[in-house]
Amino acid sequence: MDIAFAGKSSLGVLLRGVWDYLRESSLPTTSQIHEKFDMSFTLDKVVPWGRSYDEYLRMFALTENDLSRRILGCGDGPASFNAELSQRGGQVVSIDPIYVFDVDQINSRIAETYETVMAQTRNNQHEFVWDAISSVEELGRIRMTAMAIFLKDFAAGKQAGRYIAGELPSLPFATGQFDLALSSHFLFLYSEHLSAEFHLQALREMLRVAQEVRVFPLLMLGGSPSPHISFVKEQLAPDGFSIKIERVPYEFQKGGNEMLVVKASNMAFKRDGTH
Ligand SMILES: C[S@@+](CC[C@H](N)C(=O)[O-])C[C@H]1O[C@@H](n2cnc3c(N)ncnc32)[C@H](O)[C@@H]1O
Repeated sequence: MDIAFAGKSSLGVLLRGVWDYLRESSLPTTSQIHEKFDMSFTLDKVVPWGRSYDEYLRMFALTENDLSRRILGCGDGPASFNAELSQRGGQVVSIDPIYVFDVDQINSRIAETYETVMAQTRNNQHEFVWDAISSVEELGRIRMTAMAIFLKDFAAGKQAGRYIAGELPSLPFATGQFDLALSSHFLFLYSEHLSAEFHLQALREMLRVAQEVRVFPLLMLGGSPSPHISFVKEQLAPDGFSIKIERVPYEFQKGGNEMLVVKASNMAFKRDGTH
């Protein structure tokens, strides 16, 4: 359960303001939003919740060949994918605004928010499929194990340039620097809080730095399909990108078993010459 944007607290009211701001203004970055609404990106606004390596393999249907490619993980947060793929000799970089904090800060925030996340999950159990993950308690074990692996790797990984503090829709990487860019549980999940335009800009930027982009899931918080899928497809198709929705061997959010796959095609190559 990702509750970073879920509570109906003053946060809800605040987000209503953010929503109106997003609709009115031309595509602010997350830090501009934080600035406008005095939401400085402080630790108390972060709810770190990270998935395991195995979940990433199944969410994105990653093959051995995929795992040998140069991978960028956008919004990886405290997931263990980077740590575990790096341990296996893979090439992966993660970018996320929470990487401005250090390992102790993120660790203490995980400890502070864990029970809240678990309570929220218990309250919303009906929204999830309890087979691969059989219970709320087992979910807690899987996620805490994954986050512990991330925390153990974070300082060295940051030193090695594998964890970069930054945010969509602008990426501090060279054009074509990666083969595959992933977004798990950020784009589309927060469709109520991030505009269609934000999604388009974020996907274009991911396609500037990587030949292929995969996004999972295609559902919003609460479980309904994101209204932004058709918009981004309409905008990207004329530019020659191949866009597919593919079934994957993973389902925790009910109905959340598909990913979006966008690839630069030759025409896209000719068009912007960046691939
Ligand atoms: C729900 S978590 C998902 C973490 C991980 N991808 C996973 O599946 O376990 C969403 C992540 O998106 C990050 N995030 C928020 N705004 C972002 C932005 N503009 N660009 C990239 N990541 C962002 C948050 O800090 C958080 O770590």
